[in-house]
Amino acid sequence: MHLHRRNRTLRKNESIRKMVEETTLRTEDFIVPMFIIEGHRKEEDIPSMPGYKRYTLDVAVEMAIKYRNLGLRSVLLFVKCKNELKDNTGAEALNPEGLMQRSIRAIKTAVPDLVVMTDVALDPYSTYGHDGIVADGEILNDPTVEVLAEMAVSHAEAGADFVAPSDMMDGRVGAIRRALEQSGHTRTGILAYSAKYASCFYGPFRDALDSAPGFGDKKTYQMNPANRIEAIKEVLDDVKEGADIVMVKPAVHYLDIIREVKNQVHVPVAAYHVSGEYSMIKAASEKGWLHYQSAVLEATLAIKRAGADLIASYFAPEIAGWLQER
Ligand code: PBG
Repeated sequence: MHLHRRNRTLRKNESIRKMVEETTLRTEDFIVPMFIIEGHRKEEDIPSMPGYKRYTLDVAVEMAIKYRNLGLRSVLLFVKCKNELKDNTGAEALNPEGLMQRSIRAIKTAVPDLVVMTDVALDPYSTYGHDGIVADGEILNDPTVEVLAEMAVSHAEAGADFVAPSDMMDGRVGAIRRALEQSGHTRTGILAYSAKYASCFYGPFRDALDSAPGFGDKKTYQMNPANRIEAIKEVLDDVKEGADIVMVKPAVHYLDIIREVKNQVHVPVAAYHVSGEYSMIKAASEKGWLHYQSAVLEATLAIKRAGADLIASYFAPEIAGWLQER
C-alpha cells in the first residue's frame, strides 16, 4: 500500500503504548468523599452503594490514616445529621460541637497533612432535604447564603483546608470569601461546585445521608442537564467571586462540560464522579456484565482526559491501591 505512516506502529506493543500514553492517573489526583455518622466503632453499609460505607468518627479517623498511607492527599467530608437536629434554618450546621466540626478537628489532628475539604450546604440538616431555607415552597437564596457563609467560617474555625459549597445558591462564593476574610481565615480555600446539574445520579448519595428532598426537586437551583453555555457562566462567576478550584458534577455524563470549563479558566478544575455513576459500575460488575477494574479505570481516565485536574471519587481508595501495586 506504500502508506506515508502507519498509526498502528505506536500501538505495536505494551512498551510503545506506554511511551506515547497521553493521560495517566496519579494517586494525588483524587479526593475521597467520606460519610460520617454519630456513634462509636461502627461502619454501616449503604445498600445503593455496594462496597461504600458510613463510618463513625473513630473509624473514619483510622480510614483517613489508611488513605494517607495509600498516598491519597485529600478527603471531602459529609455528615449524616440526626433527624431530631434537623430544622429549616440549618442551626445544627453552625454548631461548633457538631459532627462536622468534630470530624474536621479529629482528622486534622490525626493526619495533619491530609487536605480536609468540607461540604457546605443545608440539605443534610434540613427537614425539607433542600439545600436552602424554605418558605412557601420556595428555596430562598439570600437568607440561605448568609447561613452558608457562617457555616463556612465554622468549618474554617475547626481547621478545614477547603470549604466546598455544593448548594448552587447565587452569590455564595463571594459571600463565603468575604466572611472568611472578615473572620481572619485568610488561608482557607474554596472549592466551588460551580456547574452542578440537577441529576438523577445523586440518588444513592441521598440514601447515604438520608437527604432526599421531601417535596419537589432541586431544579430551581441546580442546572438543567440540557445546558452547556450556562455552565461556563456559572464557572466564570465563581472564579470572579474568588473560587480557588471549580467543580463540574456529575462527571462521566458531563465530560463535554469538563473540557469546556478546562479550556475557559486558569484555576484547577475538579470533577465529581458521583454516587449513581459509582453504583452503575458496581451493579453491572456484580452481574458479571462488566469487568470491574477495567470499567473503573476507563471511566476515571476519561474524566481526567476530559480535563479534570482533580477527581472526587468513591473509587479513589481502590484505585490508589491498584496504583500502589503497579
Ligand atoms: C448536597 C450534595 C449532593 C451531592 C454532594 N453534595 C446531593 C444533592 O445535591 O442532592 C451528590 C454526591 C453524589 O451523588 O455522589 N448538597
